[in-house]
Amino acid sequence: MGLFSKIFNRNKNGDAQNSSPASVFVNPVKVEFHSHLIPGVDDGCEHIEQSMELVRGFAALGMQKIITTPHVMSDFYKNSRDNVYPLRDEIRKRIAEENITIEFDAAAEYMVDDAFEQKIEEGNLLTFGKDNKHILIELPFMTEPRNLGSSLFSLQIGGYIPVLAHPERYLYYANEKDKYHELKDRGVLLQLNMLSCLGYYSKPVAEAAAYLVNNKLIDLVGSDTHHIRHLHILPDAIHHKIYRKACELELLNNYL
Ligand SMILES: [Fe+2]
Repeated sequence: MGLFSKIFNRNKNGDAQNSSPASVFVNPVKVEFHSHLIPGVDDGCEHIEQSMELVRGFAALGMQKIITTPHVMSDFYKNSRDNVYPLRDEIRKRIAEENITIEFDAAAEYMVDDAFEQKIEEGNLLTFGKDNKHILIELPFMTEPRNLGSSLFSLQIGGYIPVLAHPERYLYYANEKDKYHELKDRGVLLQLNMLSCLGYYSKPVAEAAAYLVNNKLIDLVGSDTHHIRHLHILPDAIHHKIYRKACELELLNNYL
């Protein structure tokens, strides 16, 4: 089934079928802000043709704006404005040449590692949002980093708004759910990965995603698309009941 038919041929439960227009769920989220489309800088797109394929795909899914977020990790991905913005501009040029109606910008997904606080101190962080104050952060999958508290403090003192990528994927939080509430109380925004709803990463991650949505803890949703295979299963995520329920929350995507 092609991408378009996967999007539109659904019944109200989200199952693929020959449905009538009345049963079509229209994704209200128009700003996609977590992906890896900058070519050759992380484990996402390898070259610009892949980036453009994904840009076209997001436009077909009804997105009006993409803010792509290459990894920044001290040991592996030393990305900064210096290399990311010129590549962003190349993609913008291609978007204009192909007359694709979509805004395109770039920020980053910062790993909270030992070098992160130094980066905060230096400034020049790749931020996003209309206020340019939002910053996407991620954590190691095995353990909470010991400098998380001090990093969040430094960010907030600096006027940044931290957005934690895919909290459902950190199983040390899923096993200790008070931590989600503590993060929210500290002013951290939580971003759900759309594919988590499907059980794409694992069943415990899907269960944590459901918990976060059911307890109204999610502020933003994102695709975390790295390659075309992710894009191809996004329509399934969009029609999943947990994603639909997330869309009933006061999501901030469309204000970015
Ligand atoms: Fe990511």
